[in-house]
Amino acid sequence: MSVVLGIETSCDETAAAVVDGNYRVRSSVIESSIDQHRAFGGVVPELAGRAHVTTLGPVVARALANAGLDAHHPAIDAVAVTSGPGLIGSLLVGLSAAKAYALGWGVPFVGVNHLEGHLFAPLLEQPDLAWPVLTLLVSGGHSMIVLQSGPGQHEVLGETIDDAAGEAYDKVARWLGLGYPGGPEIDRLAQRGDATALKLPVSMTGPDFDLSFSGLKTAVVRATEKHHEVALGDVAASFQAAVAEQLLRKLRHAMERYDVRGVALAGGVAANSALRAGVRSLADGFAVACHLPTLELCTDNAAMIAAAGLYRFGADGPSPFNLSASPNWQLVDVS
Ligand code: KG4
Ligand code: ZN
Repeated sequence: MSVVLGIETSCDETAAAVVDGNYRVRSSVIESSIDQHRAFGGVVPELAGRAHVTTLGPVVARALANAGLDAHHPAIDAVAVTSGPGLIGSLLVGLSAAKAYALGWGVPFVGVNHLEGHLFAPLLEQPDLAWPVLTLLVSGGHSMIVLQSGPGQHEVLGETIDDAAGEAYDKVARWLGLGYPGGPEIDRLAQRGDATALKLPVSMTGPDFDLSFSGLKTAVVRATEKHHEVALGDVAASFQAAVAEQLLRKLRHAMERYDVRGVALAGGVAANSALRAGVRSLADGFAVACHLPTLELCTDNAAMIAAAGLYRFGADGPSPFNLSASPNWQLVDVS
């Protein structure tokens, strides 16, 4: 049975994990440099890259130790690492380290697409899940609806034409004077707010599966400039309802079009309470399985990278040692 060490350093999380051939997570360690970025209202690439340099070694050592593996001669069969998309400096730290570990231990290494990694998260909790599955992949950098006919078999049905959903949360939070990242705070405030307080447009009501959030962000700015009296919680609730309505409407539309056996959420915005509740009720309505990975598997982690690496290694073999980082690697370009 193959055992894979996964490494993830595409943004501000420094993560390492050990996953076995049955997609069982033997260890998963996640550190983040987010505290260094808060003051800037977003991830500062140079700071993120430097943080990976100091954090990655100890994180890998803990992942190996937690999996009961020897630090110097671990019984692993391959090293999987995110080689894109992401911040170039951050990707290069993980990629260089993965190559060094693989060379030192005499095992192959495999470069993994970060977005494909997110798609493997549900499998880590339910390795025998029934396909096909429709996945809403929503994070700070990406928003797309993906039809998966099996592990590693994916078709992007539609994606955002401007901002990602998480990016919209972060921008609106910044406008409202809330901290970074904005998603968790807006979600928390929205619980106590009135979602009908602000009239906000629901974008992209056409028959395709593309998404858009920049108009909504502008609408929040305009509406709050005009209606100073509306409470913060009500603004948060109105914005959250408009985001969820667009995403859930598109997902419902995709479920009507495609005969699937499950629906899944992936990416950091999958932590959102309105989305989780909406996807659960959609799945119930269509009588299909609902895959909502635990939050630690929704946000950036290395277990999902190890899982995708396990699949890619089996399907395509190892990557060449001259593989370089691909900061803009699209999911549609994954073989
Ligand atoms: O996947 P992720 O950890 O990092 C990448 O972007 O790859 O996602 C982070 C994003 C941030 O934009 C953050 O504001 C958003 O996920 N987020 C949320 C919630 N928790 C995190 N957005 C809405 N509601 C939440 N509860
Ligand atoms: Zn991500």
